[in-house]
Amino acid sequence: MAKIIDGKAISKQIRDELRIRAGELLEKGIPVTLAVVQVGADPASTVYVNNKKKGCEYVGIRSLSYELAEDAGEDELLCLIDELNRRADVNGILVQLPLPAHIREERVIRAIDPKKDVDGFHPQNVGALCIGQPGFVSCTPAGIIQLLRRSGVEISGRECVILGRSNIVGKPMSLLMLRENATVTIAHSRTENLREVTRRADILIAAVGKPKMITREYVKEGAVVIDVGINRSADGKLCGDVNFEDVEPVCSAITPVPGGVGPMTIAMLLHNCLESVNLQL
Ligand code: GUN
Repeated sequence: MAKIIDGKAISKQIRDELRIRAGELLEKGIPVTLAVVQVGADPASTVYVNNKKKGCEYVGIRSLSYELAEDAGEDELLCLIDELNRRADVNGILVQLPLPAHIREERVIRAIDPKKDVDGFHPQNVGALCIGQPGFVSCTPAGIIQLLRRSGVEISGRECVILGRSNIVGKPMSLLMLRENATVTIAHSRTENLREVTRRADILIAAVGKPKMITREYVKEGAVVIDVGINRSADGKLCGDVNFEDVEPVCSAITPVPGGVGPMTIAMLLHNCLESVNLQL
């Protein structure tokens, strides 16, 4: 029987630690504020944004909401970011992605002050991560490191295979695992003999966005399997990139979907909001 890594419980543990830290900051007269910007009303984005605001409330971070119309211009959004960059009472800025097609995501990410970029998407923060300098780290990969550490999974010296090379998950994940002294491989859609590659992994991290793609043929006996996917299966149910029922009997530990990686992203966002205070000193 594999150990089920409980992201909900670990996220709660972290949020409780952050709640204490936020309280201490407040006692010193340092309130922490996150500005949350949403363009349009994509239902999935609205759910994510609301969960982020709820997380803020729980920890004791003030959140400010900015809701722009679906057809808001790029300039309008850049203007708002400029205003939030200048405001001394705003510590973190989060622009929910994806943005409508007429807005250039890259321009928007670059416009956010790197010291307020709690998502860790700005090229300056990505570069800082790459060379081991202080900066914000993308929340999902940072959350996975916490999941592994707090579940007692040894990372140093072990073979880690990351499936997926996105800017938000795959690439920063590889840098973080390298920082933890893992031997890292990034596999992707063009990787040849994919199963042979993934079967090398002591720690397999799946972030491909293909429902239940990872079956036991991809997994070495006793591996730790982390499932980043959030997909809808044919029957409309939420499922990951890993076929949980098939893989669970052969691995030593596995994250479920929902209740694995998902809750960690918000916990790390809240962590970054508190860290922003240090970066802005
Ligand atoms: N859309 C999906 N995930 C994320 C995230 O982590 N941050 C932002 N800003 N948008 C997202």
